[in-house]
Amino acid sequence: VKVTFVAHDGRRFPVEIASGMTAREAALFNDVPGIDGDCGGQCACATCHVHVDPTWIDRVGCLSDGSMEADLLQFAEGTTEESRLACQITLDDRLDGLLLHVPEQQY
Ligand code: FES
Repeated sequence: VKVTFVAHDGRRFPVEIASGMTAREAALFNDVPGIDGDCGGQCACATCHVHVDPTWIDRVGCLSDGSMEADLLQFAEGTTEESRLACQITLDDRLDGLLLHVPEQQY
């Protein structure tokens, strides 16, 4: 699955990772800057915040109200309608070519 991370300064980091892995793993395994993922992907730290590109949000899906992910993101900096936690995005062929924007800072 190909994923491109776009940094806040416009730099692009195209990476490729096996289906079934998460966007957090795609970033960390490829040294994409700006995604910390401190909690190990347990949906407990919100340091893997990304903005899904608006052209992809329907396929990825928005936050569901009342989910642990939504609760955590309330406390993140610059949360928008397209905010998700990268550790909660599981990549599969449907998401091949996904564009994710990395926020300037994680808290
Ligand atoms: Fe901690 Fe995603 S890695 S919430």
